[in-house]
Amino acid sequence: MSISQVVKDLKGRLDGKVAIITGGGSGIGYESSILFAREGADVVVADINLKAAELTVDRIKEKFPLHVRKHTAAYKVDVAKEEEVKKLVEFTLKEFGKLDIMFNNAGIMHPHDDNALNTDEKVWDVTMDINLKGVWFGCKYAIEAFRRKPNKAGGVIINTASFVGFLGSATPQIAYTASKGAVISMSRELAVNHARENIRVNTLCPGPLRTPLLMDYLNTEEKKNRRLAHVPIGRFGEPIEQAQAALFLASDEASYITGTELKVDGGITAAYVTSDEACVNIPPKNYYKPQAEKK
Ligand SMILES: NC(=O)c1ccc[n+]([C@@H]2O[C@H](COP(=O)([O-])OP(=O)(O)OC[C@H]3O[C@@H](n4cnc5c(N)ncnc54)[C@H](O)[C@@H]3O)[C@@H](O)[C@H]2O)c1
Repeated sequence: MSISQVVKDLKGRLDGKVAIITGGGSGIGYESSILFAREGADVVVADINLKAAELTVDRIKEKFPLHVRKHTAAYKVDVAKEEEVKKLVEFTLKEFGKLDIMFNNAGIMHPHDDNALNTDEKVWDVTMDINLKGVWFGCKYAIEAFRRKPNKAGGVIINTASFVGFLGSATPQIAYTASKGAVISMSRELAVNHARENIRVNTLCPGPLRTPLLMDYLNTEEKKNRRLAHVPIGRFGEPIEQAQAALFLASDEASYITGTELKVDGGITAAYVTSDEACVNIPPKNYYKPQAEKK
């Protein structure tokens, strides 16, 4: 086998691709940024928390020094602000020359999100602004960038929704649930609208995860166990498990997949009654230490 063939075979699953990952400073976005970089992508780690995004980039550079030449970059963005999302995409085109993958992953779960009667309009609005409008803005400017590429090269959009887009929660979070259902519907329509432009749009639908977003909300053992009772696999998911699924959707291995919802949820959306036996499976380790453990 020739050297060039060996080098070719060593190529990563995202080699030569340029990706933006929003919410790249923590949880799913953090693991995905590192995994996408490991697979050869140039990654713009975008987050409202610039320090967190920079730590992700530091981690990529530390882990994969070759990527220093590949200009992995941290970028501060509030996805709820259209002008900032537009500038994020412009920055990526200027620095990296193109955009291939837009992973609209940033999202919040507001601590005062409640049922229809108790949720303040401001909580509803801020949730929709980030979780839904932010995803729309990301899609809008990604599609514009994809259209500028020669030969209708297109691109890939992955939007993070949630299992609550399919299931109602008796522990209410009305704005969050509505926002995630809307992300799923919007993504399907975008997929259909832009399929002939070689643009694939899919949603990643995580189950309950061991990330700050959910763990800050479920801040007692009782609250955690209330959720776990519904998860057939019997444990919270790990961000790396979402990152692996996002990597698949982003890669050419998913070239015939668009308009779908990839549920990575420990079986929660398939369950009626779950077993009361103790959980025996061992969670996979996140490949890289979460930010909190690094400090
Ligand atoms: N954790 C779960 O159990 C779970 C389950 C289903 C879906 N999700 C979804 O997965 C996505 C990622 O969640 P996570 O668990 O990794 O959360 P996380 O809180 O660990 O990370 C979210 C990141 O988004 C950033 N962010 C928040 N608001 C932003 C904004 N306006 N602009 C830019 N960045 C912003 C935060 O700074 C943070 O770094 C979210 O969309 C979330 O709704 C999470």
